[in-house]
Amino acid sequence: MTLIQELESRLAAAFHVVLGEPVVAPVVAAADLRFGDYQSNAAMALAKQRKTNPRALAEQVIAALDLGDLGVADIAGPGFINFKIAAGTWAVRARTQFADPRLGVPVIGMGRTVVLDFSAPNVAKPMHVGHIRSTILGDSLARIARCLGFTVITDNHIGDWGTQFGMITWAWKSSLDEQALLENPLQELLRLYRHASDSAKSDEAIREACRMELVKLQQGDAENTAIWKRCIELSRVGLDKIYDRLDVSFDHWLGESAYNEELAPLVDRLVADGLARESEGAICVFSDGSIPDPAKDPFLIRKDGEWTDFPMMVRKSDGAFNYATTDIATLEFRRREWKADAAWYVVDHRQSLHFQQLFAVAGRIGLGDMDLRHIAFGTILGTDGKPLKTRSGDLPQLADVLDDAVAAAATAVAERSRVDSEEERVALAELIGISAVKFTELAHHRLSDYVFDLDKMLALQGDTAPYLQYSVVRSRSIFRKLEEAVDLSAVVPVFTEDAELHLARFLARYGEVVPMILEDHRPNLLANYLLELARAYHSFNEACPVLKAEPAVRDSRLLLCELTSRVLVHGLGLLGIRCPDKM
Ligand code: ARG
Repeated sequence: MTLIQELESRLAAAFHVVLGEPVVAPVVAAADLRFGDYQSNAAMALAKQRKTNPRALAEQVIAALDLGDLGVADIAGPGFINFKIAAGTWAVRARTQFADPRLGVPVIGMGRTVVLDFSAPNVAKPMHVGHIRSTILGDSLARIARCLGFTVITDNHIGDWGTQFGMITWAWKSSLDEQALLENPLQELLRLYRHASDSAKSDEAIREACRMELVKLQQGDAENTAIWKRCIELSRVGLDKIYDRLDVSFDHWLGESAYNEELAPLVDRLVADGLARESEGAICVFSDGSIPDPAKDPFLIRKDGEWTDFPMMVRKSDGAFNYATTDIATLEFRRREWKADAAWYVVDHRQSLHFQQLFAVAGRIGLGDMDLRHIAFGTILGTDGKPLKTRSGDLPQLADVLDDAVAAAATAVAERSRVDSEEERVALAELIGISAVKFTELAHHRLSDYVFDLDKMLALQGDTAPYLQYSVVRSRSIFRKLEEAVDLSAVVPVFTEDAELHLARFLARYGEVVPMILEDHRPNLLANYLLELARAYHSFNEACPVLKAEPAVRDSRLLLCELTSRVLVHGLGLLGIRCPDKM
């Protein structure tokens, strides 16, 4: 049990005694440590319901509260209950955490299957910055959910079907550079795409030619199908390289094209069941009027002061199917084949209406019991405060962003690192550069925009990956200086110094923080926790000598060092970040 759970159950028991009925009494970590370690505003909430005096209620509850030797409670302000945890409790917690390979992280997802839909770039189209955020966030959420005991299925739902293939095929036939394609497939495909889209802009005949190539592909033409297949395979090679660098992997790559055969019967079924109907030649899903507030109905939009239909199109008037159609088929597949209880989509906030409509449709086709989430995120900005662009004004490609970060890390490594061989330096720069990109992403609230500033991201003193990695290296280095090994499992720690207690408090919190991430899918809670933990560790390091202390004190402190390093490594692992042995 985490301390929060322990306090909640004891507090609830005291309320039960006072009120004569069972109640829930939530406890949270204190925002301001001067008032205690944990706090609860349950007395205020419960007194309000019962129209009694909150402070008086809190006083009765405290009188009935049995905390054992956990700590003490007192009342503040209008009826807050504050808990101060006893030094002995922190010591017991540290010892238990040391013996636990899960480091106190509870299992909460047993028997539940979650599909994580993330990254999902579009083949042969520029990868926009959104795909960077999605890839890093999604991978971290997958790791966290797995750690919490969920069965996680990661699926890269790439955009491998659609109008871009008309353009690519046209350009492929007229100006493919085979050599370039082999050397850097993503770049050559992108060049073909840009060439076609630029040419089509000014030339009606080329536009038409591209359209004809698409129609041929859709009709199963052998040559165009072969080109399309090669595009997918080559993109896959290019993408795999990037995912390898990022240490990201997928259980499945079921792109949009995997559902092509299911779309026509799906639309027929929707129509037959009265869930979709014809409108101006297209087939659409409309509002069913079940949502009383029109502002909350994703099938309505306000135009000129009136609520008008904003349907979800599932078949265009020319017979082609939509992104939405594929997503409905995909969701049905995930439920049918994988028995998914949940599907979490890590996708740009600009698609929020699409997902609201998709989830509403899910309810209408019998998938309303699924936990469906659109995990949206904002934009990455350049140091000029505008959306990140390359020098030539293009959308930056993920590989370029990584290359830039690694190049900057190489400079930093050359200046400050202690590794000696060139090979180690190169590997370290790669690790640090990529970690910095990941950590910056994960340390921000996913919905806010953030500035991509390599100097800040790589600073050794700052809210950065290198700072955390350095903290790990440092917390481990102490063990190399020990004259003989200490068996930490036998240590019964005693903490007396403020800095020790402060560090122990943060260590104990680990098991409380990790499950909290999934409440709103915010890895930044973990990233920020790890920064606080590292700061607590550095203060401890300054205030409390370890090796020079007398043996019992030394061993207690060694236990703190070891636990800090384990929690940092484990927590960074959940963010998809590895730690070097040396820096
Ligand atoms: N390929 C899409 C894009 O680049 C993202 C797909 C997200 N997943 C989904 N099931 N719709 O915008």
